[in-house]
Amino acid sequence: MIDLNEIQTIEHDVLVVGAGGAGLRAAIETSNLGLNTGVITKSLLGKAHTVMAEGGMAAALGNVDGRDNWKVHFRDTMRGGKFLNVWEMAAIHAQDAPERVRELEDWGAVFDRTRTGLINQRNFGGHRYPRLAHVGDRTGLELIRTLQDHGIHQGMDVHMECIAIDLLMDGGKISGMLAYWRETGRFVIFKAPAVIFATGGAGKAWRVTSNSWEYTGDGYGMAARAGAELMDMEFTQFHPTGMVWPPSVRGILVTEGVRGEGGILTNSDGVRFMFDNIPDRFAPETADSKEEAQRWLDGDREARRPPELLTRDVVARAIMREVKAGRGSEHGGAYLDISHRDSDFVKRKLPSMYHQFKELAEVDIPAQPMEVGPTLHYYMGGIRVDGVTQMTCVPGLFAAGECSAGLHGANRLGGNSLSDLIVFGARAGRGAKEYLDNLSGSPNVQQEQVHEHMRGVTDFLNREDGENPYVVVDDLQKIMELNVGIVREGKELEEGIEALQELKKRVAHVKAHPTSQYNPGWNTCIDLRNMITSAEATALCALQREESRGAHTRLDFEGEREEGLTYNGVVRLNSEGNLEVRKEMRKDAPEDLHKIAHSTLEELEGSRV
Ligand code: FUM
Repeated sequence: MIDLNEIQTIEHDVLVVGAGGAGLRAAIETSNLGLNTGVITKSLLGKAHTVMAEGGMAAALGNVDGRDNWKVHFRDTMRGGKFLNVWEMAAIHAQDAPERVRELEDWGAVFDRTRTGLINQRNFGGHRYPRLAHVGDRTGLELIRTLQDHGIHQGMDVHMECIAIDLLMDGGKISGMLAYWRETGRFVIFKAPAVIFATGGAGKAWRVTSNSWEYTGDGYGMAARAGAELMDMEFTQFHPTGMVWPPSVRGILVTEGVRGEGGILTNSDGVRFMFDNIPDRFAPETADSKEEAQRWLDGDREARRPPELLTRDVVARAIMREVKAGRGSEHGGAYLDISHRDSDFVKRKLPSMYHQFKELAEVDIPAQPMEVGPTLHYYMGGIRVDGVTQMTCVPGLFAAGECSAGLHGANRLGGNSLSDLIVFGARAGRGAKEYLDNLSGSPNVQQEQVHEHMRGVTDFLNREDGENPYVVVDDLQKIMELNVGIVREGKELEEGIEALQELKKRVAHVKAHPTSQYNPGWNTCIDLRNMITSAEATALCALQREESRGAHTRLDFEGEREEGLTYNGVVRLNSEGNLEVRKEMRKDAPEDLHKIAHSTLEELEGSRV
């Protein structure tokens, strides 16, 4: 048995896992609060899914339309989430977001401006007013740049290309994390009484996704193994507009900002099909003719919003229906066209999209339509947390951003992710500080536990025979695409869960080339343990939810059911190591928030408190 003293050990008060927006914002908070903070990232600093939120961050600043305020933002978020959101989180988010955005500006973020010099805001799906503070179509990138510059100056330590393996516990409390360096394959123990997960989602469990290689549900897997709960995992968001052609770039995001700036969707017959896909709930606020949509684009404040700006779940399903009906675009999507706008305007407002299509698809978007289709973009569900402190049910373990559950309910509004990261990243940091202030004693790292975790991952290198992990990933993605896709059915879900059980046995026997240095195969073996947990939790929650709500569509249970609003799906690993799903009854909605969410816009407009 290796003595713990022989393993590199790094001590922090707080260890943040993940260096996207939520992780960096949490680290800034804990550093500011005087805590010795370390951030580990499996990739490089600045390389995060945060940059895939291109179009902006939602905050009711009211700079472009003075009628906006936190209550309307809260109402939009609840309606978008089909009222399954954790009420308090949706309220905190809407209330805190403006201050968090202004703070970013103080730290050097260079937002686009209005003519009068205020932070500019654009329209996005489901947001009643222009609400997304943005930097062209590179908002996530600017957010990360600002946070990393500011964070480094606050003194946080960043450990790059460091893969988290498992949490370490002492007497039921967090005592740290076992990880390894990608470059050398050497293990490292992080001794830390508080750990904040900001690990993002598990988009890589699907073949067509906007997520890159890092997003393998690491936080979900590690949290579940440590005894934390996962919640509402069935709500996986398919962003309606990913690239569909050429195949090598399928899934790459095409920002909703294109539709926010007036882009329209058409099918192969040239029909603007979103006019035929307006749900009753949104009809009073949605234009039902091209003329009215055009008036909105021309700035008529009384005109209703174009149907292309309906929520993502609605738009993604509508595109899929067109494709299924044989009216799809040449390569199996829909056409997204912004060529009716001035060419300079398009290049100025959507510079990344302009280059992305020019370079990757040879399409000149100021002149030609893009081909787009749904791409797995985001997990609304995730690790269950307390809505105020962001702590999980495991003392000392916190989660923020995409890896946590609650804010977005059944469907997230575009732009609410960047604001989520900065609002709840900061709150997780404060939650960790409060926890540490009240913690008595200092949890220790247990030698036997470290060895067990090390054995669990070195087995992949040491065994004589075993399957290639990439083949298993490929099969996992096929199962998720076919059985747990954009529309679902009970029988397919059951078959999918069965197939995942079989796959789980294969995951236990994958094998990597027996060298630990810079070995992506080994890394994939380790990722697979987390991917399979994420995939299974998603399928179990999807089977349990017998209704269609938000991003979760069941062909065998059409429409929302009253019962669906009464519970959250909660998943936990039982003592036999199997995932179990249950319905956890929701608390009654706080009266004041319920009233706001069901108010008319007229009642909320101009209200600042
Ligand atoms: O379309 C987008 O720019 C994505 C934004 C988001 O997911 O929040």
